[in-house]
Amino acid sequence: MIIAVDGPTASGKGTIAKRLAQHLGIAYLDTGLLYRAVGRQVAISEGDPDNPADALAACGFPDELLQDDNLRTEATGGLASRVSVHPEVRQALFERQRAFAEQPGGAVLDGRDIGTVIAPDADVKLFITASVQARARRRWLEMVEKGIGTEDEIPLIEIEKDVVQRDARDINRKDAPLKAAPDAMIIDTTEFDREAAFEMVVEAVHEALNKA
Ligand code: C5P
Repeated sequence: MIIAVDGPTASGKGTIAKRLAQHLGIAYLDTGLLYRAVGRQVAISEGDPDNPADALAACGFPDELLQDDNLRTEATGGLASRVSVHPEVRQALFERQRAFAEQPGGAVLDGRDIGTVIAPDADVKLFITASVQARARRRWLEMVEKGIGTEDEIPLIEIEKDVVQRDARDINRKDAPLKAAPDAMIIDTTEFDREAAFEMVVEAVHEALNKA
């Protein structure tokens, strides 16, 4: 069984996908982390994330890098979105994601192109989204909670700008742009808190699996 969970930045898809995998007792892969590792490796190697050759070279990052706390920062997220526009990089990461998806016990993968490119054959496809304002506010609250800065030190408007920029890059790239697969269930979590959003997803997944 393959479950594809796609959606824009800060939509909450990661939290939902991880909980869903636990709920179903199957494996989980955050594919964004792979792109973040490539972005981080480019920075470590002092390469240029916009240069396809530098970005491709960074796809050989050591596995330990996936444990690096730096991968979670906004700066690395920005680098990830820049390296991810190169078709060479997407190709280099394809097999790893496909092999994970095909493992015998089943898997949940979250990302931007799981339902469209990595696993068009997925049993269930979810596209989790929310308004720019809601996503920016959630990211801002998360940063304040993590102690990255106080409410006054982190301007919400800057986070909003960053979300808009990341969306534009993900939606407008030529190769594997962010979009819902035609057969994906679109779940808009703007008006819902985490718990309610998760309940909605679980219900939708069980319904889809029962129909299959
Ligand atoms: O999901 P996350 O914010 O960790 O992803 C970081 C960046 O990696 C995204 O903005 C996107 O550009 C890229 N990405 C991608 N395809 C995926 C997962 C992430 O292009 N499947």
